[in-house]
Amino acid sequence: MDLLQKIKNKEAKIGIIGLGYVWLPLGLAFAAKGFDVLGFDLDERKINSIGNKQSYIKHIKTEEVGKAVESGKLKATTDFARLPEVDAIIICVPTPLNEHREPDMSFVENTAKTISKYLRKGQLVTLESTTYPGTTEELLLPLFENADPAKDNKYVVGKDFYLAFSPEREDPNNPNYSTATIPKVVGGVTENCIKAALELYNQVIVKTVPVSSPKAAEATKLLENIYRSVNIALVNELKMVFDRMGIDIWEVINAASTKPFGYTPFYPGPGLGGHCIPIDPFYLTWKAREFEINTRFIELAGEVNTYQPYYVVEKSIEVLNKYKKALNGTKVLILGAAYKKDIDDMRESPSLKLIEILRERGAGVDYSDPYVPKLPKTRKYNYDMNSVELTKENISKYDLVILSTDHEAFDYEMIAANAKIIVDTRNAFAKRQLLKENIYKS
Ligand SMILES: NC(=O)c1ccc[n+]([C@@H]2O[C@H](COP(=O)([O-])OP(=O)(O)OC[C@H]3O[C@@H](n4cnc5c(N)ncnc54)[C@H](O)[C@@H]3O)[C@@H](O)[C@H]2O)c1
Repeated sequence: MDLLQKIKNKEAKIGIIGLGYVWLPLGLAFAAKGFDVLGFDLDERKINSIGNKQSYIKHIKTEEVGKAVESGKLKATTDFARLPEVDAIIICVPTPLNEHREPDMSFVENTAKTISKYLRKGQLVTLESTTYPGTTEELLLPLFENADPAKDNKYVVGKDFYLAFSPEREDPNNPNYSTATIPKVVGGVTENCIKAALELYNQVIVKTVPVSSPKAAEATKLLENIYRSVNIALVNELKMVFDRMGIDIWEVINAASTKPFGYTPFYPGPGLGGHCIPIDPFYLTWKAREFEINTRFIELAGEVNTYQPYYVVEKSIEVLNKYKKALNGTKVLILGAAYKKDIDDMRESPSLKLIEILRERGAGVDYSDPYVPKLPKTRKYNYDMNSVELTKENISKYDLVILSTDHEAFDYEMIAANAKIIVDTRNAFAKRQLLKENIYKS
């Protein structure tokens, strides 16, 4: 196979479609190993950022992007007619849910249709977007088999082109792991497909883990994320029970975590956020219906987790009641818009839901987040809000402060000293020994 030799010699050119959170670290990893990387996206702003040597993701340094661009190894384009230039095409476009909580496959489908227009013999295509088991072989494969421009012959997978699924496991801003140091699961359609995909990822990833098929790889990613969703739901449920019993869930989790086997800690919070955990489990739920199976565990976890922002608001109402105040007419400041600490990604963030519920109940709501100066438009929300600067004067103007994201950059002492009432959904104040009677956990 020419492709294998080209990859081994680092002469293979890597194309990546979808220039979001997944592509940038992956593209940089390939560029650092000497591969030419060409990114494709419909969004001109991202292409221009790369052209201008700018990172558009907070935890990826602009200098790193600059170095790769200056070396000529990292480029980006909106011109999909350049797809035949590359030897491997990696797809990392979004896989969200639609308003009925069903998979929105339009991004993957449109991308696959575009590839099929340009697919040339000898190319490897891998899909990294999280999806339901079967996507690679049921959606991508038929399109690529019919990609021959002459239309009289079908392309043969494993001979004319190679196809695999390899889920992304990126954990943004995790100081202990990066794209290159997280083992990568790979499932190929044929023996040649897995060979090519393993050769590709072995160039940049510390360890590849081959599985028997793309659908086994697709299912692996779902298991990982469903495991998290279910365990987070469990501690969220326990949080509510223990709170009624006067037991602090955080103390209990810390104590249980001392068990050296059979227990992994998960932490409660104001609700699920990010592109993965709130979404991916329902890709399986949807597919399972085709097999007449109800995924009750997944649905139940979804129900508990979806309820959490409402729980935080109920808790806030209870707390305000102690001070003879109603939520209606109260000024609330939400700390943190990003879905997890120290990042700027606010997709599916529970803070957005909190704003909605609090406003519906008559509260005046502002937010403060050093990494999200303005709330961008999302599929669901279009708030015209700017981050409030965290000063003593500003904090003391609010009747209630809800800590939603525990960014390290917040000055917790200053907040504790100046806020009238605090509802802490992350145990951030207690963790810093800031224990005051106007700080409540939720
Ligand atoms: N962000 C993460 O940490 C993470 C982790 C694991 C898995 N994933 C999965 O990886 C996939 C990508 O996630 P992401 O966070 O990088 O998404 P993202 O939203 O940050 O980026 C996706 C990019 O794809 C582009 N795009 C959309 N349609 C396109 C098309 N037809 N052609 C070309 N470009 C197109 C968008 O403009 C955007 O730049 C998703 O399936 C996600 O579930 C993400």
